[in-house]
Amino acid sequence: MAIETIIFPDAEQAAQQVAKKIQQLIQRKPDAVLGLATGGTPLLLYRELIRMHAEEGLSFAQVRTFNLDEYEGLPPDHPESYWSFMQRNLFDHIDISPGNYHLPSGMLAADAVPEHCEAYENAIRAAGGIDFQILGIGRNGHIGFNEPGSTISSRTRRVTLCEVTRSDAAPAFGSIEQVPTHAISMGCATILEAKEIVLLAFGEHKAEIVAQAVCGDVSENVTASYLQTHQNIHFYLDSAAARDLRESM
Ligand code: GLP
Repeated sequence: MAIETIIFPDAEQAAQQVAKKIQQLIQRKPDAVLGLATGGTPLLLYRELIRMHAEEGLSFAQVRTFNLDEYEGLPPDHPESYWSFMQRNLFDHIDISPGNYHLPSGMLAADAVPEHCEAYENAIRAAGGIDFQILGIGRNGHIGFNEPGSTISSRTRRVTLCEVTRSDAAPAFGSIEQVPTHAISMGCATILEAKEIVLLAFGEHKAEIVAQAVCGDVSENVTASYLQTHQNIHFYLDSAAARDLRESM
C-alpha cells in the first residue's frame, strides 16, 4: 500500500493542515504551481487559504495555478462553471494575478478541443510542472473528471460524464438534465506528474470508495487507485471517510 492516509477528527482540521502545507510551500517557493480542484470538498481549504492571506499576509502574487477540469458548454460566468466557482471561492479573495490562473475552456468548437488540451499540457510543463496537486474524489472513484475506464496514461482531453457524476451534480444545477454531459479534464498521467498530491475526502458517503482507492487493485474501474503508483501521495480524511479503511487494514 503506497498511499499514506492521515485521519483527522473533522474536515476543518484536515483542511487546516493542508493549508499549512501550501503556506509552507509558497513561503519556500513564492511562484509555486498549484493544481486546484472544485467540488464541496476543497471549500474549507480555500477558506483557510483566504484567512491566511487576510490575517497572516500569505501572498499568492506569484503563484501559478491549473485547475483539473471544466464543464463543456458552460460560459465562464455561468454560476456552475468551475471558472466562476474558483473566482467565488478563492481567486476573488486573494492577490493572485489573473494571468496566473488557468482552467481548461469548455466553450470551444469540437475541432479546437485537441489543440486546446495540448496547449494546457504545454502550459503546465512550461510552468515547471505542478508542485502540489489538490484532489477530491467522486463517488465512483474519479479524480478530476477521469471517470472509470480512463487509462493511467490519459492526458487532458474531452471526457463523457457518468450518470452517477451527473446525478451528484444535479442539485446544484436544479436537475440532471441541466448538468453538462461532457467536460474537459486533465488526464490521469497529467495528475500523476505532480510532484506532491493530496487527496481530500470527507464524510461517510466517501468511505467505501476511499477504501477501494487505497486498498483495492490499481484499476481503471477506480481511477483514484492509480494514485497508489505515486511516490508522494497523501490522503487527508476525516474519520467518517476513513471508516472502511480501518476495517480493511
Ligand atoms: C466533481 C469534480 C471532482 C470532485 C468531485 C467530488 O466531479 N470534477 O474534482 O472531486 O466532483 O465532489 P465533492 O467534493 O463535492 O464531493
